[in-house]
Amino acid sequence: MHSTSRRPKPSGRAGEIINAGAIAAMMSIGHRLGLFRVMAELPPATSAEIAAAAKLNERYVREWLAVMVTGGVVTYDAGRATYTLPREHAACLTPGAQLGNLAVYAQAVVLMGAVQERILGCFRSGAGMAYEDYPCFHQIMAEDSGQTVVDHLFTILLPLADGLTTRLERGIDVLDAGCGAGRALIAMAERYPNSGFTGYDLCGDAIESAQQAAAERGLSNVRFEQRDLTEFSETERYDLITSFDAVHDQKEPAELLVRLYRALRLGGIYLMQDIGGSARLENNVPLPMAAFLYAISCTHCMPVSLGQGGAGLGTMWGWETAQAFLQRAGFANVQRHVLPHDPLNVWFVSVKQ
Ligand SMILES: C[S@@+](CC[C@H](N)C(=O)[O-])C[C@H]1O[C@@H](n2cnc3c(N)ncnc32)[C@H](O)[C@@H]1O
Repeated sequence: MHSTSRRPKPSGRAGEIINAGAIAAMMSIGHRLGLFRVMAELPPATSAEIAAAAKLNERYVREWLAVMVTGGVVTYDAGRATYTLPREHAACLTPGAQLGNLAVYAQAVVLMGAVQERILGCFRSGAGMAYEDYPCFHQIMAEDSGQTVVDHLFTILLPLADGLTTRLERGIDVLDAGCGAGRALIAMAERYPNSGFTGYDLCGDAIESAQQAAAERGLSNVRFEQRDLTEFSETERYDLITSFDAVHDQKEPAELLVRLYRALRLGGIYLMQDIGGSARLENNVPLPMAAFLYAISCTHCMPVSLGQGGAGLGTMWGWETAQAFLQRAGFANVQRHVLPHDPLNVWFVSVKQ
């Protein structure tokens, strides 16, 4: 005889963790297929209506919906067989969410699984990985920085440095170091036609995507070049240098900051976003999503630095380390900001005096 009321629970927290991991993987699928966006726009709907609106197969969509219902993301009306994405859930799983679309980060959980076989080998050998080993990395990264950087560039980020937007309007030289798919630089190039913009990145596929996006917009004041920043040696060439989440996974972060300092003109500004964790593990226990950040570190940021023969400082190298490296590079006055729209990161504004 079956009894549902006395069904044993898989052991508490471990069961919850496995369940949450599965929901995250399926959240990534929902994000990639536009299911959350479709459901946010529909009234309570059947699986057939949701599948039709998303132009997907009903059977797969129904099974995905079952995960979302049992996972507490979607509500289900059994009498009508309709599904609803509550407004407050849609608010953090669709574009335009105040603290960013969290479904974007669910893709990183899937990426960790995609590279597991390689990472197992790295644990044994100590070897590193290459950016090309991660499918869709630059696409996910562009979505991530789209919401922490690009969406807030003109309202919050560039105004962090006194007088910077006026200088950009008049015309200055700007470098984005480790520009990835280049969306931040493109947004600035569109807004400030009198300024010149350069983006360097190690990865050819990211640079191609950036070049294509710039060409589609007909921009002539921005250029992107595939360049290994460990060989970067320009001197007093820029008035503004930016790096968005691009220092900690470098081969030699401290050395890169010295090179960026050298590449700035006197009075030039360095605007740096990096991960906001502390260098001390014990300080990170209460940090939101700290386990997620360490997991990204273990499966991506640390291995790609080690893969370049680098230090492998990891995602959680710590704001203290970043600040000390900036000061050692020569920046005398380093301002640190933790911004409400971007709680996982820290922002530094440094001026070459
Ligand atoms: C976490 S991603 C951030 C990308 C981009 N700034 C963004 O916010 O979307 C780090 C970037 O640093 C680049 N990078 C890592 N090592 C590099 C190196 N030695 N030279 C140039 N770029 C490098 C990677 O290719 C990657 O695009």
